[in-house]
Amino acid sequence: SSHKPTMVTCTAPVNIAVIKYWGKRDKDLILPVNSSLSVTLHQDQLKTTTTVAYCRDFEEDRIWLNGKEEDINQPRLQSCLREIRRLARKRRSNKDSTSDMSALSYKVHICSSNNFPTAAGLASSAAGYACLVYTLARLFGVEGELSCVARQGSGSACRSMYGGFVQWKMGEKDDGKDSLAEQVETETHWPELRVLVLVVSAERKPVGSTSGMQTSVETSKLLKYRADSVVPGRMDEMISAIKRKDFAAFAELTMKDSNQFHATCLDTYPPIFYLNDVSRRVINLVHRYNSHYGETRVAYTFDAGPNAVIYTLQDHASEFVQVVRHFFPAETNGGQFLKGLPVASTTVS
Ligand code: PMV
Repeated sequence: SSHKPTMVTCTAPVNIAVIKYWGKRDKDLILPVNSSLSVTLHQDQLKTTTTVAYCRDFEEDRIWLNGKEEDINQPRLQSCLREIRRLARKRRSNKDSTSDMSALSYKVHICSSNNFPTAAGLASSAAGYACLVYTLARLFGVEGELSCVARQGSGSACRSMYGGFVQWKMGEKDDGKDSLAEQVETETHWPELRVLVLVVSAERKPVGSTSGMQTSVETSKLLKYRADSVVPGRMDEMISAIKRKDFAAFAELTMKDSNQFHATCLDTYPPIFYLNDVSRRVINLVHRYNSHYGETRVAYTFDAGPNAVIYTLQDHASEFVQVVRHFFPAETNGGQFLKGLPVASTTVS
């Protein structure tokens, strides 16, 4: 006879770093060379939705991404599955020995989809692994600190486990137990903050973050300087700017940190180019806009791709959108414009 699967569906939003993570000190555990800080977006626009089911009839673990079956044996996927099953086993045996452990031996089927371009430098892996870990945890009844598990899927994913303003503390230990995400302020802290995503290109990035950051760690002296001597101070300044809701300070640190991250990419050998001509025009436009007002009203930041993410305040958002539309009419650069996202209300539902 056939059995009914048990399933759970959750969503998780993207996060956009304002102090960037770039470089691992441990590749297997995914431990970073510096701490980082991001804003988790609202789930309305950029999110991953994942359904996980177990059933005693399933013969093997399987995964589908955006409708296409992918290799379940990828090491990071296996780390997440193994960790959640381990935590579930631990929890069950602590709680009551009589509870049904059989589900833990059942195979799972995972279906995950993004409502935005995958691997285009729009933090799809962050939302993806955060969602996978959270959904698996729900299915197996695991609670508590899960950012350590999400981190082992994709580093930046640990920050999508919380809403609002989130730091990923690099930690000191070799086992990674202290390398986890922590909420700095909740999603209601700074309601005037707005995020705009300028889709410069929806194509897959040429150099993935994993291989890119490995080459940077191996070859860039600037990266070492950045991690040891620049980021620690910037983390403190950024947390203070967020707590004070000082937009100019927040914006300037965000732009400088994005620029330094892309400088370390250029300092990598052979160099990595994520920004393109359109990205550089956006950078110039933001600086011209700010100097026109003699005040920092808008900030840009770029991850491992040419797409710009703009931080601004509610009062200036629609004017800046008009300025962008004027200088970048969609038909001439192929660029698409996503409407502004307020800061996240919840990370996972
Ligand atoms: O977690 P990964 O491997 O997707 O790396 C993300 C790195 C950046 O997006 C460029 C920066 C960051 O902190 O999110």
